[in-house]
Amino acid sequence: MSETVADRGAGPATDRGVLLEADGLSVVFDRPHSLADRLRGRPRSRLHAVDGAHLTLHRGESLALVGESGSGKSTLARALMGLTPLDAGTVTMDGTVLPGHRSRSDARRMQMVFQDPYSSLNPRLTVGAVLTELLSVHGLGARSEREATARNLLTLVGLSPSAYDAYPRQFSGGQRQRVAIARALVLEPELLVADEPVSALDVSVQATILNLLGGLVESLDLTMLFVAHNLAVVRHLCDRVAVMYLGRIVEVAPTEQLFADPRHPYTRGLLQAIPRLTPGSRVPVVGVQGDPPSPYAVPTGCRFHPRCPLATERCRVQDPELTRAPSITTEANSRTDHVAACHYAFGDEPAAHRPEVLLDLVGPDPADTDPADPDPTDDRRESPEKEVSST
Ligand SMILES: Nc1ncnc2c1ncn2[C@@H]1O[C@H](COP(=O)(O)OP(=O)(O)OP(=O)(O)O)[C@@H](O)[C@H]1O
Ligand code: SF4
Ligand SMILES: [Mg+2]
Repeated sequence: MSETVADRGAGPATDRGVLLEADGLSVVFDRPHSLADRLRGRPRSRLHAVDGAHLTLHRGESLALVGESGSGKSTLARALMGLTPLDAGTVTMDGTVLPGHRSRSDARRMQMVFQDPYSSLNPRLTVGAVLTELLSVHGLGARSEREATARNLLTLVGLSPSAYDAYPRQFSGGQRQRVAIARALVLEPELLVADEPVSALDVSVQATILNLLGGLVESLDLTMLFVAHNLAVVRHLCDRVAVMYLGRIVEVAPTEQLFADPRHPYTRGLLQAIPRLTPGSRVPVVGVQGDPPSPYAVPTGCRFHPRCPLATERCRVQDPELTRAPSITTEANSRTDHVAACHYAFGDEPAAHRPEVLLDLVGPDPADTDPADPDPTDDRRESPEKEVSST
């Protein structure tokens, strides 16, 4: 198999229909309620790890799910897989709502690759046993066929067929992740959910695993949900990007569209966090300002407002819905649509929401500042809406 991944970031070419749809998904966890909490009469607090998330995966596409640590990416991925119980919402596959407890045939259609290849493989089983056990559980093939399938799969993921008789501890991190990918593919799933599959790996092998995944998606005609912290990682791998913040999807767009014209200030912050390799660049890497709020105390209104440099009074009280960018066609198409949950993403914008201002959250270089104007970036002075503190 070729190790060169096609540049999928240019966006989707044809729409082959929706494979999986998540509608209003919520997952709530209880905070541990200690004896001291109970004695002091403290109420049990709950955390909305995923809070009414919507996501659509089209057959044959690679969709990236990005966001800071704790934004709920893994919980959403696990909820789609049926590995975490839902508190609300539905997961639909090929138009059929999937039950919380998945049937074996439904489970077979979607498989997951986890972040840590060290803990995700049973150290007591040989690689061959890891792969053939799954085939056996699902009643697929005779024993000799199962072994042949497993050996072929090891070749497909770039390992020697002799890896069949080895134990996971005998492999490097990158090789273990190849075994984990082979395990995810052995049941011939339609959907691959990869939860930060390279972030635990040495930088030198990350690109080879990304190339492997991109190539497998192409050659096996898979649909992939690729979870990542870092937007840079997904740019050339994924057709579309969904950005998650504090349990919600806040922006979705075809990849190049998102990089060229991000409409949510959080996405812009994530993009600014990507280190630039331009020689002589004076732009500091800043990213999103401040720390994420506690998920036990989600801010009112727009949940991003305490960190948003462009927040207005309206943002503090009114929760923005995911809104579709106006387009020349009136027909909604979730494969090419650009949606964002920001009051000012596409509509009438206060002056501060002009794209050129949003792109310059770090401010101008001090050398370019006119001493007569103490803050030339402060276009919010023209905003018709009252500003709120960004604390
Ligand atoms: N089993 C659990 N019980 C209680 N809280 C949990 C549980 N799993 C996750 N959480 C909390 O839910 C929130 C979302 O966690 P999640 O792991 O989904 O985020 P993430 O975006 O995948 O983060 P990371 O990038 O660090 O992997 C976090 O606040 C986390 O602490
Ligand atoms: S709705 Fe307001 S606070 Fe939220 S992202 Fe948009 S400008 Fe910022
Ligand atoms: Mg995670």
